[in-house]
Amino acid sequence: MNNIHPIQDQLVSRKEKEYALHQQGAVIWLTGLSGSGKSTIAGSLERKLFEKGHLVQVLDGDNIRVGINKDLSFSIEDREENIRRIAEVAKLFCQSGNICICSFISPTSEIRQLAKNIIGSDDFNEVYIQAPLEICESRDVKGLYKKARAGKIKGFTGIDSPYEEPLQPAVILDSSSHSIEECVNHLYQYLRDKQIINSQSKSLK
Ligand code: ADX
Repeated sequence: MNNIHPIQDQLVSRKEKEYALHQQGAVIWLTGLSGSGKSTIAGSLERKLFEKGHLVQVLDGDNIRVGINKDLSFSIEDREENIRRIAEVAKLFCQSGNICICSFISPTSEIRQLAKNIIGSDDFNEVYIQAPLEICESRDVKGLYKKARAGKIKGFTGIDSPYEEPLQPAVILDSSSHSIEECVNHLYQYLRDKQIINSQSKSLK
């Protein structure tokens, strides 16, 4: 691009920020159907990490879509633009040492690959929140499946818009056979195994 000169040499580096925060920057990317439990798991994981003294930021579908991405629809092109912008934002959080938990349907392999390319494969941790469509539909927390079945919402993921399961996610959590607490504990252990957080985390509780 002409006449644009991004600043590369930040005054305070990512490494310095990570050292101060006692953690590594990372993006935890939760993908799954609407109603699979992404937002609940994101919120509970954030709470657990925060209580252990970590700096965490959740980016969540419904919140982002009433703010920065309120101009976007649910067409495949707009879903791609949704994820592109979110990935750029998540990258900024990650580079400042934050653990950024992203919770978006992100329905296709291509869309998730786009996010991975933007964020970088070292920092991108894909987590598949697996729950059968029938379970998500029976939960129908927001009443959207009912509307989609009645034809009042067009292009609803899992009904008349595709969801492609991730082929090689870093973690698979089955929220239909495990409690939220079990899912969060599993993710917490994953973060420790990857040394994003360590066993010396200072607890606020
Ligand atoms: S994504 O496909 O672009 O990744 P995103 O996670 O931002 O989706 O938003 C999903 C949320 O938007 C759902 O949890 C649901 O509450 C709401 N929503 C509204 N319309 C649709 C639709 N057509 N398909 C899926 N989710 C929808």
